[in-house]
Amino acid sequence: MDRKGFLRVLGGGVVLAAGLGAVAVWRGAGMPQEATAAWREAGTEQDVRRFALAHALLAPNPHNMQPWIADLGTDGQIGLRLDMQRLLPATDPFGRQILMGAGAFLELLAMAAAARGYRAEIGLFPDGAPGERLDAKRFALVRLIQDAAVAPDPLFANVPSRRTDRRGYDLGRPIGPEDAAALAAAAGGTLRFGLAGATDPRVEAIRAIAREAWRIELATAATMMESMHVLRVGGAEIDRHRDGISITDPLLFTLMKLGMFDRSAAPAIDSAAMRKQVADFDAITAATPGYFWIVSDGNSRAQQIAAGRAFARVALAGVSRGLVMHPNEQSLQEYPEVATQYRAIHALIGAGGTVQMLARVGALPAGTAVAEPAPRRGLPALLGTEKMTG
Ligand SMILES: Cc1cc2nc3c(=O)[nH]c(=O)nc-3n(C[C@H](O)[C@H](O)[C@H](O)COP(=O)(O)O)c2cc1C
Repeated sequence: MDRKGFLRVLGGGVVLAAGLGAVAVWRGAGMPQEATAAWREAGTEQDVRRFALAHALLAPNPHNMQPWIADLGTDGQIGLRLDMQRLLPATDPFGRQILMGAGAFLELLAMAAAARGYRAEIGLFPDGAPGERLDAKRFALVRLIQDAAVAPDPLFANVPSRRTDRRGYDLGRPIGPEDAAALAAAAGGTLRFGLAGATDPRVEAIRAIAREAWRIELATAATMMESMHVLRVGGAEIDRHRDGISITDPLLFTLMKLGMFDRSAAPAIDSAAMRKQVADFDAITAATPGYFWIVSDGNSRAQQIAAGRAFARVALAGVSRGLVMHPNEQSLQEYPEVATQYRAIHALIGAGGTVQMLARVGALPAGTAVAEPAPRRGLPALLGTEKMTG
């Protein structure tokens, strides 16, 4: 189908779906409970290494690819590698964001170990750090050492309720100095943490950059297709993969069931589907009372991991303050089409360093239900002990 065809079909599909008794088709669009079981089961693991990993895999990570492989072959140790089939070469050509996700994973792992009275001694890149591209060598070797002196981390209790929330936030609940102080404290001192609340003129400047970078990601075939390939539309697909970008929108699900949602080509930027994507992002961007960012002085592999660790802590600290967040990495990405926005955001908030994280932050409007958790593949996938099906 050509791009114009996609537009016509999307428009026509609304009518057609209604005509076909869409309610019946729509059933099955929603998030299946099995796909999110990992969130409820993490605390039930007895063995300390499994307990730590069951929490680590709840870490925020780009496109929810969960590209982690754990090896429990040596007692008391956890070897960790990246699954090279689960990287995002178009949006994340150098694997910077993937390593931030690995950092968030390590942070949650260490917190979970501490909750059980174990100190996690984390050795980064025991076989050598990757060069310009990521590799399949271990990114960390963790030793868990029982230690009566290890202090449990109060942020650990927030792990099951942390969410990435991509909805509009309450502009009547500004992000104030107390929020900023709590989030900065959680980030720790090794990286620079910054935050702009609604009265800060930088908020409007960031909004403009974020919008444009989002539009470019949609309009660039390689980055758009990278997302299209990991769209999981409706309950059955979400449950089968338990990764990627979950779509529970009944209309899109219905079109998919009717064979009218073409994922083999990027729709044109001026198509109805894309215009809706842009309009939705504009709306949530307008409903953003603040942004925060994490900046490292250099951009080494260890600093990328550290930035991910800091981000995980900030997100957990947000839960305690009733705040949710939504990373907007588009302008921080390193593919050429977005170079102008990369320069603009660095000029605005980078202060000579590398902006590793930029995220919306705010509170949900009163009465809004907490978002459902994002799917997780669970421990068997992480340990490579999954039963093969089909
Ligand atoms: C380094 C990094 C970059 C991310 N970038 C984005 C982003 O640009 N847009 C977005 O919607 N989510 C982004 N996310 C959030 C992930 O999509 C999210 O963590 C993942 O889907 C799992 O969902 P959860 O955080 O609710 O568990 C990012 C997360 C990380 C760690």
